[in-house]
Amino acid sequence: RLKLAILISGRGSNMKALLEAARDPSFPAKPVLVLSNRPDAKGLETAADEGIPTAAIDHKTFGKDREAFERAMNEHLETAGVEIIALAGFMRVLTPWFVNTWEGRMINIHPSLLPKYKGLDTHQRAIDAGDAEAGCTVHWVSPGVDDGEIIQQASVPILPGDTADALANRILPVEHALYPEALAKACESIKARA
Ligand code: GAR
Repeated sequence: RLKLAILISGRGSNMKALLEAARDPSFPAKPVLVLSNRPDAKGLETAADEGIPTAAIDHKTFGKDREAFERAMNEHLETAGVEIIALAGFMRVLTPWFVNTWEGRMINIHPSLLPKYKGLDTHQRAIDAGDAEAGCTVHWVSPGVDDGEIIQQASVPILPGDTADALANRILPVEHALYPEALAKACESIKARA
């Protein structure tokens, strides 16, 4: 099983879905670390309750030096022997240095049907565009924001009168089902490459 780190910034519901899937010993990744850039992230408590080692590295203590923050994260990742990273609501843009260091070993979940709506406010933007459907995407992380090769997507309808919150609530459980499946696929592709 590949050693998995999950990077979060907040609630961590996608993280929880991954931890639950990984309880099955036949799941191809084993969580060894949950790391947050926010010390108060709710997901850190959830991970600790599941018995997973956690670390908080507060990006604010590094000022504008993004790479110094990432080097601190990287030390934790290396010490834990991490082989694959899943970003799960991790809300810091990563530098090319970090992305290149983990290229082909780092995946992300994004709440839109990429390549549509990279960045923030994805649900409102899909509603405002009059789209018939929205969804979520798991992709490899590449230097461009939300730009890497797509691993898997799932869609939901946008209904008349939808608010961004209503749409987000419809997509979230779909994320929770999609992410473990896509992570398993990513692990298989890493193993096949080795
Ligand atoms: C999820 O909807 C995830 O797709 C999104 O943030 C939420 C995190 O929720 N990610 C992004 O917007 C990345 N740019 P969670 O902490 O409960 O998993």
